[in-house]
Amino acid sequence: MTEKSFDFHRRFPVPTHVAIIMDGNGRWAQQRGLPRTAGNRRGADAARVAVRAAVGQGVRYLTLYGFSSENWKRPADEVEDLMGLLRYYLRSEIADLHKQGIRLRVIGDRSRLATDIVSLIEDAERLTAGNDTLTLIVALSYGSRAEIACAARRLAEDATAGRIRPYEIDEAALASRLFTAGVPDPDLLIRTSGEQRISNFLLWQSAYTEFVFLDTLWPDFSEDDFVRAIKEYHGRDRRYGATGA
Ligand code: IPE
Ligand code: IPE
Ligand code: MG
Repeated sequence: MTEKSFDFHRRFPVPTHVAIIMDGNGRWAQQRGLPRTAGNRRGADAARVAVRAAVGQGVRYLTLYGFSSENWKRPADEVEDLMGLLRYYLRSEIADLHKQGIRLRVIGDRSRLATDIVSLIEDAERLTAGNDTLTLIVALSYGSRAEIACAARRLAEDATAGRIRPYEIDEAALASRLFTAGVPDPDLLIRTSGEQRISNFLLWQSAYTEFVFLDTLWPDFSEDDFVRAIKEYHGRDRRYGATGA
């Protein structure tokens, strides 16, 4: 690293963890007179673009919101299409992710996923467990309130069993019982499609995350969009409640 690039990286550190709400597949398809399934297919391609961009930028954790606990409310044929894409992605992509040194981790309520999908996820997590170029976290059947409620339930169970005393319950105790245990909180959260809401994603973890909203519809997401979001992040003054720099 040259002195100049060292200085650049000190002043503009790469976000360690980037999280993305991949939104706008339906509108992308609608604008083209195509079925929503076509948008979801192109959306899966855009997820590959995001992974490549994250690796290229030196990001260590990338979390992609693929399917929310509320998305189960969508029509059965759309849910089936999304699950089919997920199966395809898990089957066709894992070897390549592994070759790139990427670790896969899936967060969410697995009890609602089909058993063959759960097996594919478990196999992929096992295969890639030793990788550390990038940790790719995919949120599937994920809802942040349910995740927090589950952590509270585990704390209650642990307290009842005498493994923890109520006065020992602090932020770290709760965070260590979330799906994201051991993962640093996201530095940057990107949402595409112009919507400016969190939609039950990483509520606890995003307490001090910087949000960047892009108008791009997810299937059109490019490496340039990723870099643009990081540049906007670099312009932010992260204070964590303290006074400014
Ligand atoms: C994101 O695109 C994909 C999922 C939520 C699974 P949408 O399907 O939400 O697309 P819009 O918001 O209807 O355009
Ligand atoms: C959030 O998008 C979930 C994912 C991108 C997977 P939605 O499209 O489901 O969110 P709302 O309904 O617009 O809030
Ligand atoms: Mg949407």
